[in-house]
Amino acid sequence: MSQKTYYITTPLYYSNANMHIGHTYCSVAADTMARYKKARGYDVKFLTGMDEHGQKIEKAAAALGKSPQEHVDGIAELTKELWATMGIDYDIFWRTTDKVHEKTVMKIFKQLYDQGDIYKGAYEGLYCVTCEAFYTELAVKDGKCPDPNCGKDVERVKEEAYFFKMSKYQDRLIKHIEDNPNFIYPESRRNEMLNNFLKQGLDDLCVTRTSFKWGIPVDFDPEHVIYVWIDALSNYAVALGFMGENDTEYQKYWPADVHLVGKEIVRFHTIIWPALLMALNAPLPKQVYGHGLLNIDGRKMGKSLGNAVDPHLLVGRYGVDAVRYFLMREVVFGQDGNFTNEALVGRINADLANDLGNLLSRTVGMVDKYFGGKLPARQLATDFDASLIESAAIAAQKAEEAYDRMQFSDALNEIWNFVRRANKYIDEVAPWVLFKEEGRQDVLAGCLYNLAESLRIIAVLIGPVMPNTPVAIHSQLNITDGNLKTWESAKEFGLLDRDVVVTKGDIVFPRIDIKKELEELAGM
Ligand code: MSP
Repeated sequence: MSQKTYYITTPLYYSNANMHIGHTYCSVAADTMARYKKARGYDVKFLTGMDEHGQKIEKAAAALGKSPQEHVDGIAELTKELWATMGIDYDIFWRTTDKVHEKTVMKIFKQLYDQGDIYKGAYEGLYCVTCEAFYTELAVKDGKCPDPNCGKDVERVKEEAYFFKMSKYQDRLIKHIEDNPNFIYPESRRNEMLNNFLKQGLDDLCVTRTSFKWGIPVDFDPEHVIYVWIDALSNYAVALGFMGENDTEYQKYWPADVHLVGKEIVRFHTIIWPALLMALNAPLPKQVYGHGLLNIDGRKMGKSLGNAVDPHLLVGRYGVDAVRYFLMREVVFGQDGNFTNEALVGRINADLANDLGNLLSRTVGMVDKYFGGKLPARQLATDFDASLIESAAIAAQKAEEAYDRMQFSDALNEIWNFVRRANKYIDEVAPWVLFKEEGRQDVLAGCLYNLAESLRIIAVLIGPVMPNTPVAIHSQLNITDGNLKTWESAKEFGLLDRDVVVTKGDIVFPRIDIKKELEELAGM
C-alpha cells in the first residue's frame, strides 16, 4: 500500500518587516502538525515562505534606501534563520519572486484571460496620493485618508484594470462549503463566510493595479501588475509544480490537506482561492483552518505599533522548547489569545520546571542514589501502578485525538495530567521510605522503572511540540532504540528494558525568579 500523504501550508508572510511572535505562532503550529503526522507515518510536505510583491514592500524598501529585491532577499534570509532557531522543519520555502513562480503566475493569468474568466474593465475607488493606496467608501470619513499618519484629501480615481469573474463561481462555492462541513474550520468562520460574504453576493475581483510596479506584470499588457491575491495564493499549488514543467509533486500532494492561516485572511483562502481553482479546473484544498491572533498585553501587535515581540529574545532566555510549549499551550487554537511575559514565565515555572523537569530529575536522581545508576532486573509492583498505567493510556489516546483536531492546548493538557499523575505517584509510593525498609528493594526498583517508562511515553507525546526535550530525556535514560520512540510505542506501558541505566544531565528547565525576570524584561 502506498504511504498516505499530508500537505500542510502556512501563509506566505509579507516581506515588509521582520517576523514577530505572531508569525512564529502560525509556523510553530504548522510545524507541530507536520511532526505529528510524520510520527503517525504520513509522507508529509510542509510549505512556508514569503509574499514578496506589492506596494507595501516597495515602500518599505525605499524607506531603507534599498531596492525591493535587495530588501526581500534580506528578509527571506532572516526569516529562514528564525525558522531554524524555532525548529521549524519545513520542506519548501517558497518565495513569490522566484522565477518559476513568476512565470507560472503569468501563465495562470493568461489562461484565465483566454478562457474568459478574466476581463478588462475599469476600477473606481477613493485614492490617497500620499499613501498611494485605495480606500473603501466605508473607511473614508469626510473625504480624508483614514491612515492616522496621513489624513490628507482622497480623490475619486478611475483606472483601467483586469477583473476576475468571481460572481460566476458563487453558487458552486456555496454548495461546496455546505456539502463539506470541514472545508472551513472553526465552524464560526464557516458561518461568517457563508452569511456575511457569499450569500450577500460576490462582486468580480480587481486583480491588477497600475499604481505600483513591484509585482508580476501581465505579460500581454505590461502596464498592469498582477495584484496580490492571484500572485500569492497560487503559490500553494505552483510550488508543487502545478502548470509547470514537472508536476510530479503536485500529482502526489495536491489537494492540500490544510491551509493554516490567521483568521483575517480566511476570506481570501475560502472564497478567492477556491474560485480560482475552480476556474483552473483543479481540486480544492481539503481544509482552510483559521487560527486566532495573538495580542500583546491585550493590544494588537505590529512592527509599526512598536510592540512586536522578537522570538529570538525569548528563545535566548528560555530555550526553543519552552517558547513552543507556551505558544501551543496557552491559547485554545482557533481563538484569539494574549501574550504576556507573566503568563510565559509562569507557565515555564509551573509546567516545565516544576512538573516535567522535576519528574525527570527526581527519577534519574533516585536511580542514581538508590541503585548507583542502574536498576536491578528483579522488580515488584506497587499498589499505585494500575492507576499510573491507566493514566498513561488515557494521555496517549486523548493527546492523539486532540492533535488530530489540531487542538494543541488540549493535547498538552492531557499529557500534563499524566506528568502530574507521575509526580503524585512518587509521593504515594515514597521511594525514600522504601529505601530504608528491609526487603523492599524490589518494589523500589519497580517504582523507579515505572517512572522511567512514564518519561519514555511522555517524550513521545510531547515530541511534535517540543522537538529537543525528548532528546534530553532519552540521553538521561539512555534510550537509543528507535522502537521505543515511535508514536505507537507510547500506547504500550512496559516496553523499556527493565535494567534502566541513567546518566545524570543538566536541569532541562531551570526555575526562573519571576519577579527579577519580569523587571529585566520590562527594562528591555
Ligand atoms: N501575505 C499575506 C498572506 C498571503 S497567503 C497566500 C499575509 N501576510 S502577513 O505577513 O500579514 O501574515 C499573515 C499571517 O501571519 C496571519 O494570517 C497569521 O497566520 C500570522 N500572524 C501575523 N500576525 C499575527 C498575530 N498577531 N497573531 C497570530 N498570528 C499572526 O497576510
